[in-house]
Amino acid sequence: MNRQWMLAAIAVVVIAAIVWRFYPQKAEPGTGKPIVNVTVPELDGMALAGKSAFDTNCASCHGANAAGQDGVAPPLVHIIYEPNHHGDQAFYLAARQGVRSHHWPFGDMPPVEGVTDRDIAKIVAYVRSLQRANGIK
Ligand code: HEC
Repeated sequence: MNRQWMLAAIAVVVIAAIVWRFYPQKAEPGTGKPIVNVTVPELDGMALAGKSAFDTNCASCHGANAAGQDGVAPPLVHIIYEPNHHGDQAFYLAARQGVRSHHWPFGDMPPVEGVTDRDIAKIVAYVRSLQRANGIK
Protein backbone atom coordinates (compact mmCIF):
# COMPACT_ATOMS: atom_id res chain seq x y z
CA MET A 1 0.00 0.00 0.00
CA ASN A 2 1.40 3.40 -0.84
CA ARG A 3 1.65 6.30 1.53
CA GLN A 4 -1.30 8.24 0.13
CA TRP A 5 -3.61 5.28 0.59
CA MET A 6 -2.43 4.92 4.16
CA LEU A 7 -3.12 8.58 4.89
CA ALA A 8 -6.56 8.40 3.28
CA ALA A 9 -7.42 5.30 5.32
CA ILE A 10 -6.29 6.99 8.54
CA ALA A 11 -8.34 10.09 7.69
CA VAL A 12 -11.46 7.97 7.15
CA VAL A 13 -11.03 6.22 10.48
CA VAL A 14 -10.45 9.49 12.35
CA ILE A 15 -13.50 11.15 10.76
CA ALA A 16 -15.66 8.11 11.47
CA ALA A 17 -14.56 8.18 15.11
CA ILE A 18 -15.40 11.89 15.42
CA VAL A 19 -18.82 11.48 13.81
CA TRP A 20 -19.59 8.46 16.00
CA ARG A 21 -18.56 10.37 19.13
CA PHE A 22 -20.67 13.48 18.49
CA TYR A 23 -23.66 12.08 16.63
CA PRO A 24 -26.73 11.92 18.95
CA GLN A 25 -26.75 8.41 20.33
CA LYS A 26 -30.20 6.92 19.91
CA ALA A 27 -31.36 3.47 20.94
CA GLU A 28 -34.69 1.72 21.34
CA PRO A 29 -36.02 1.83 24.93
CA GLY A 30 -35.07 -1.35 26.70
CA THR A 31 -31.88 -1.90 24.72
CA GLY A 32 -29.47 0.65 26.22
CA LYS A 33 -26.83 -0.12 28.84
CA PRO A 34 -27.04 1.56 32.29
CA ILE A 35 -25.15 4.86 32.30
CA VAL A 36 -24.13 4.90 35.98
CA ASN A 37 -23.64 2.28 38.69
CA VAL A 38 -26.33 2.62 41.33
CA THR A 39 -26.05 1.31 44.88
CA VAL A 40 -29.58 0.29 45.87
CA PRO A 41 -30.39 1.02 49.54
CA GLU A 42 -32.99 -0.75 51.63
CA LEU A 43 -36.27 0.89 50.64
CA ASP A 44 -39.25 1.39 52.89
CA GLY A 45 -42.74 2.91 52.82
CA MET A 46 -43.11 5.62 50.19
CA ALA A 47 -39.81 4.82 48.50
CA LEU A 48 -40.73 1.15 48.12
CA ALA A 49 -44.11 2.06 46.65
CA GLY A 50 -42.28 4.51 44.42
CA LYS A 51 -40.10 1.78 43.01
CA SER A 52 -43.06 -0.03 41.50
CA ALA A 53 -44.56 3.19 40.13
CA PHE A 54 -41.15 4.04 38.66
CA ASP A 55 -40.71 0.57 37.17
CA THR A 56 -44.14 0.83 35.51
CA ASN A 57 -43.89 4.39 34.18
CA CYS A 58 -40.29 5.54 33.95
CA ALA A 59 -37.83 2.63 33.90
CA SER A 60 -38.46 1.83 30.23
CA CYS A 61 -36.45 5.00 29.50
CA HIS A 62 -34.60 5.95 32.70
CA GLY A 63 -33.52 2.34 33.27
CA ALA A 64 -33.65 -0.01 36.24
CA ASN A 65 -32.82 1.82 39.50
CA ALA A 66 -32.88 5.11 37.54
CA ALA A 67 -29.37 4.28 36.30
CA GLY A 68 -30.17 5.71 32.87
CA GLN A 69 -30.11 3.95 29.55
CA ASP A 70 -27.44 4.60 26.98
CA GLY A 71 -29.04 6.19 23.91
CA VAL A 72 -32.48 6.55 25.54
CA ALA A 73 -32.63 8.63 28.73
CA PRO A 74 -30.37 9.95 31.50
CA PRO A 75 -29.80 8.51 34.96
CA LEU A 76 -31.85 10.35 37.59
CA VAL A 77 -29.25 9.19 40.10
CA HIS A 78 -26.94 11.93 38.88
CA ILE A 79 -25.56 15.15 40.34
CA ILE A 80 -27.57 17.14 37.75
CA TYR A 81 -30.76 16.00 39.50
CA GLU A 82 -29.68 16.74 43.08
CA PRO A 83 -32.53 18.36 45.03
CA ASN A 84 -30.97 21.83 44.86
CA HIS A 85 -30.80 21.80 41.08
CA HIS A 86 -33.95 19.84 40.22
CA GLY A 87 -36.40 20.16 43.09
CA ASP A 88 -39.31 17.76 43.49
CA GLN A 89 -41.44 20.02 41.31
CA ALA A 90 -39.26 19.12 38.31
CA PHE A 91 -40.57 15.55 38.55
CA TYR A 92 -44.22 16.61 38.52
CA LEU A 93 -43.60 18.93 35.58
CA ALA A 94 -41.60 16.32 33.67
CA ALA A 95 -44.37 13.72 33.97
CA ARG A 96 -47.19 16.17 33.17
CA GLN A 97 -45.62 18.24 30.41
CA GLY A 98 -42.64 16.28 29.24
CA VAL A 99 -39.13 17.73 29.03
CA ARG A 100 -37.42 19.60 26.19
CA SER A 101 -34.02 18.02 25.66
CA HIS A 102 -31.43 20.30 27.26
CA HIS A 103 -28.93 18.40 29.38
CA TRP A 104 -28.48 15.26 27.26
CA PRO A 105 -28.36 14.19 23.63
CA PHE A 106 -31.33 11.80 23.89
CA GLY A 107 -34.15 13.96 22.57
CA ASP A 108 -37.29 15.18 24.36
CA MET A 109 -39.12 13.34 27.11
CA PRO A 110 -42.81 13.04 26.18
CA PRO A 111 -45.47 13.60 28.87
CA VAL A 112 -46.19 10.37 30.75
CA GLU A 113 -49.88 9.42 30.50
CA GLY A 114 -51.77 8.04 33.46
CA VAL A 115 -49.45 8.89 36.37
CA THR A 116 -51.13 10.64 39.27
CA ASP A 117 -49.58 13.23 41.60
CA ARG A 118 -49.67 10.53 44.27
CA ASP A 119 -47.59 8.26 42.01
CA ILE A 120 -45.08 11.03 41.43
CA ALA A 121 -44.81 11.74 45.18
CA LYS A 122 -43.82 8.09 45.64
CA ILE A 123 -41.47 8.16 42.66
CA VAL A 124 -39.75 11.26 44.08
CA ALA A 125 -39.32 9.49 47.46
CA TYR A 126 -37.81 6.52 45.62
CA VAL A 127 -35.43 8.56 43.45
CA ARG A 128 -34.32 10.70 46.42
CA SER A 129 -33.57 7.52 48.42
CA LEU A 130 -31.45 6.20 45.55
CA GLN A 131 -29.71 9.56 45.23
CA ARG A 132 -28.90 9.73 48.96
CA ALA A 133 -27.50 6.18 48.93
CA ASN A 134 -25.21 7.27 46.11
CA GLY A 135 -23.91 10.43 47.73
CA ILE A 136 -26.24 12.89 45.94
CA LYS A 137 -27.82 15.10 48.58
C1 HEC B 1 -39.86 8.01 26.59
C2 HEC B 1 -38.72 8.06 27.50
C3 HEC B 1 -38.94 8.64 28.88
C4 HEC B 1 -39.86 8.24 29.84
C5 HEC B 1 -40.93 7.15 29.74
C6 HEC B 1 -39.60 9.05 31.00
N1 HEC B 1 -38.56 9.92 30.76
FE1 HEC B 1 -37.89 11.35 32.03
N2 HEC B 1 -36.58 12.02 30.62
C7 HEC B 1 -36.37 11.44 29.39
C8 HEC B 1 -35.30 12.13 28.71
C9 HEC B 1 -34.75 11.79 27.34
C10 HEC B 1 -34.88 13.17 29.57
C11 HEC B 1 -33.70 14.16 29.37
C12 HEC B 1 -34.07 15.52 28.82
C13 HEC B 1 -32.83 16.39 28.74
O1 HEC B 1 -32.07 16.31 27.76
O2 HEC B 1 -32.56 17.13 29.70
C14 HEC B 1 -35.70 13.07 30.76
C15 HEC B 1 -35.60 13.94 31.85
C16 HEC B 1 -36.29 13.78 33.04
C17 HEC B 1 -36.19 14.66 34.18
C18 HEC B 1 -35.37 15.95 34.27
C19 HEC B 1 -36.29 17.13 34.05
C20 HEC B 1 -35.62 18.46 33.95
O3 HEC B 1 -36.23 19.44 34.39
O4 HEC B 1 -34.50 18.54 33.42
C21 HEC B 1 -36.99 14.15 35.15
C22 HEC B 1 -37.20 14.72 36.56
C23 HEC B 1 -37.61 12.97 34.62
N3 HEC B 1 -37.18 12.77 33.32
C24 HEC B 1 -38.48 12.18 35.32
C25 HEC B 1 -39.22 11.14 34.76
C26 HEC B 1 -40.22 10.40 35.49
C27 HEC B 1 -40.59 10.63 36.94
C28 HEC B 1 -40.75 9.48 34.60
C29 HEC B 1 -41.87 8.49 34.86
C30 HEC B 1 -43.09 9.04 35.40
C31 HEC B 1 -40.05 9.66 33.34
N4 HEC B 1 -39.12 10.66 33.47
C32 HEC B 1 -40.31 8.93 32.19
C33 HEC B 1 -37.07 10.36 28.87
C34 HEC B 1 -38.12 9.69 29.48
